[in-house]
Amino acid sequence: MTSATLNIGVVGLGRLGQRHAENLAHRVPNAKLVAVCSPVEKELDWARATLGAQHCYADYAALLAHPGLDAVFLVTPTALHAQQIIQALQAGKHVFCEKPLSLDLEDCLKVEAEARRHPHLKVMIGFVRRFDASYRDAAAKIREGLIGKPYLIRSQTMDQNDPGGFFVRFAATSGGIFLDCSVHDIDLVRWLLGNPQPKRVYAIGTNVIHQGLREFDDVDNGLATLEFTDGSMASFMASRTMAHGHETLTEVFGAHGRLTIGAGARLHRVEISDNKGIRHECTPDFYSRFADAFLLEAQEFVDATLGKGELSLSLGDATEATRIGLAMTQAMRERRPVDFG
Ligand code: NAI
Repeated sequence: MTSATLNIGVVGLGRLGQRHAENLAHRVPNAKLVAVCSPVEKELDWARATLGAQHCYADYAALLAHPGLDAVFLVTPTALHAQQIIQALQAGKHVFCEKPLSLDLEDCLKVEAEARRHPHLKVMIGFVRRFDASYRDAAAKIREGLIGKPYLIRSQTMDQNDPGGFFVRFAATSGGIFLDCSVHDIDLVRWLLGNPQPKRVYAIGTNVIHQGLREFDDVDNGLATLEFTDGSMASFMASRTMAHGHETLTEVFGAHGRLTIGAGARLHRVEISDNKGIRHECTPDFYSRFADAFLLEAQEFVDATLGKGELSLSLGDATEATRIGLAMTQAMRERRPVDFG
């Protein structure tokens, strides 16, 4: 790719797609948002009104045929990712796709095979936490040996309760709490521990508030424990029911120390002292916690595609995250430990 600008089409303009579209339109150097796609007319109206989008498609194949399009950002329901990535590659487009790559291991492998047929095209799955300044600092400190060899990670993704029940509607396509939420922690754990091989997983879950999730064999609070073949371990906690906000927290234990990332979930560096005591406000949602990281991941994709750097994560990483997330889900549903082959 030699052009100085990457012409991008955003596919899916929901909760997160709108954020990616705004970033690409206004905040990512060398990115140009040239078209958008959603089957929902109201979302296309939003893009026209908010972004001045001139090329709005209800049909994905029509977006892929947009003249001069270089790349797509897929921010669509997870069940569509694999097929949409394959279609984009076959149309000669670079692909950024939201996590997880797929809910099906075979589909992950099909995407990897298709990507190998187009080695000149970049494909990136958005594990956004790898682009967060605090996680990057922790990763660098681990590589420097500050805490010695890490042997245990405890990582959690805790979402604020949404009384509107977004997650219940979302459950039909999300893959369940481990593949939707813990998949971030799974990717972090692999990254921070240096990609050890998973050996066995245990998992349980419960429904505290959102009983409607039962219909999808899903839970609103889940716990999982993972052993790796090198003896390292990880513990995962995911929740949809926090009263106080979104709290992503990771602790990495090494032989000589511990790193804690994200403790306290502070929205700002402001402490409030009043007749209720001393407190601070909490990040309400994932976007308020990771807004800067979403920009940096988009920048890495654009730079790599324009030949100004390499992608720091691979499709193989995304496949592995799905493999582990599926095993966690199976362990919880079948109430037994699941071994990796
Ligand atoms: P959403 O349901 O709010 O949005 C999905 C969008 O896809 C909607 O605009 C819908 O109209 C569109 N869509 C549906 N079928 C389509 C099709 N056939 N062609 C084109 N567009 C279609 O979902 P949300 O929350 O924005 O999630 C989207 C993806 O982003 C999911 O894979 C999710 O896992 C991921 N995500 C990642 C997060 C992160 O922290 N990195 C956080 C939230 C979501």
